[in-house]
Amino acid sequence: MEANSTMQQQVNVYRASLLDFPAPTSNPSSDFRYIQDGLLVTRNSKIVDIGSYNNLISSYKSHTISDLRGKLIIPGLIDSHLHFPQTEMLASYGEQLLEWLNNYTFPTEAKFADDDYATKIASIFLHQLVSNGTTTGMVFSTVHKSAADALFNAASKLNMCLIAGKVCMDRHCPVELQDSPALAQQHSAELIESWHGKGRLAYALTPRFAPTSSEQQLAALGELAKQYPDVYIQTHLSENLNEIEWVRQLFPKHRSYLDVYDQYGLVRKGSVFGHCLHLQDEEWRRLKSAQATIAFCPSSNLFLGSGLFELEKARQHGINVSLASDVGAGTSFNMLRTMGDAYKVCQLKHNPLCPLEGLYMMTQGAACNLGLEHTIGNLNTGTDADFVVLDPAFNELSALRTQHLIEERTISAPQDVLFALSMLADERTIFQTYIAGNCVHQVNKELN
Ligand code: GUN
Ligand code: FE
Repeated sequence: MEANSTMQQQVNVYRASLLDFPAPTSNPSSDFRYIQDGLLVTRNSKIVDIGSYNNLISSYKSHTISDLRGKLIIPGLIDSHLHFPQTEMLASYGEQLLEWLNNYTFPTEAKFADDDYATKIASIFLHQLVSNGTTTGMVFSTVHKSAADALFNAASKLNMCLIAGKVCMDRHCPVELQDSPALAQQHSAELIESWHGKGRLAYALTPRFAPTSSEQQLAALGELAKQYPDVYIQTHLSENLNEIEWVRQLFPKHRSYLDVYDQYGLVRKGSVFGHCLHLQDEEWRRLKSAQATIAFCPSSNLFLGSGLFELEKARQHGINVSLASDVGAGTSFNMLRTMGDAYKVCQLKHNPLCPLEGLYMMTQGAACNLGLEHTIGNLNTGTDADFVVLDPAFNELSALRTQHLIEERTISAPQDVLFALSMLADERTIFQTYIAGNCVHQVNKELN
């Protein structure tokens, strides 16, 4: 049977410009790998070779080569904070966070009590991710256990590396969206047992945010966090000034917003906190000492008028930062556009954000923050073959803008191309998306 299994090995060879960060770094603007005329080789679900065309071609003479010259291959993009049930309410007019939650979010999330509905939206949601080049997401579901099951089921069919969790909330939201401390613990535990570590899936304990969880519920989730030290944790922190004042009133004994989560053992490596716009000094320090991660959600922060993230402060404190869309408060699934919004937020703060740092925060950097750099986030041999093929000339304007950056069908200035795409990108920019070696999306083509 040896010969048979060898025959089944599927080797694919791609020729394009290749850009990634092969190792963790605090200096992405210099520690990148760029191969102007490169070959990327996959076997089944893994990357097995990467190098320059000239160095590698002799080894792959007998293979058909996918000629993607003029295009740029980067690792599959990682969106470190977004909400699957909010897909349909993206771009809902007006209001700041707390009103937006009451007027749009809660009524929409209530629809997910219907399993068929959840299954339908899970499929649309994952299609939106892959057609925008996102191959891994850290995702909030709704309070309903069955909606999380629907999402995990859909992701497992794509063999996708997805982290998700059932939202837990037992107060300050409509009754039909409330669980309880015991139910939150039981359903979260059942979902961990069903999905955490199954294939490429992982679980994140997901208290929505401090105002919608009682102290008893946070304690119940803290117990689970202790019982399952390798599950992730995701929530929101310090997004909106009214929210922060509300937390102060609800939890008068706690020193800070972060301290509420900390008291219940929810602040650790693998905890990802969305937003973090108005932190006190002690909160910055605690995020650092815990090796926790901030999900920087620029498009959402502009959309809800929440504030401007201080990336420079995070850099000074040496805190892990990943980029995230926060759909449906974020206005696009496209992480390149999200990086463009991050640049604009940093401009308003007079902090530069170079495109390589932006790329790092949604590839290798985000993977490292999740402890997943040995499987995703880069183009290293031995990792899972999740990658994206970008077309710099996807429309008339982008072709005009990037034409001088392309020489003899290879890209001479990848940073410039990336930056231009961060402002101009849409779905047409994503020529192809590969998950575990399979092409799961090709522009203008229905793939099954
Ligand atoms: N804080 C609590 N819930 C949410 C949510 O769904 N979106 C955002 N942006 N912030 C939140
Ligand atoms: Fe969010």
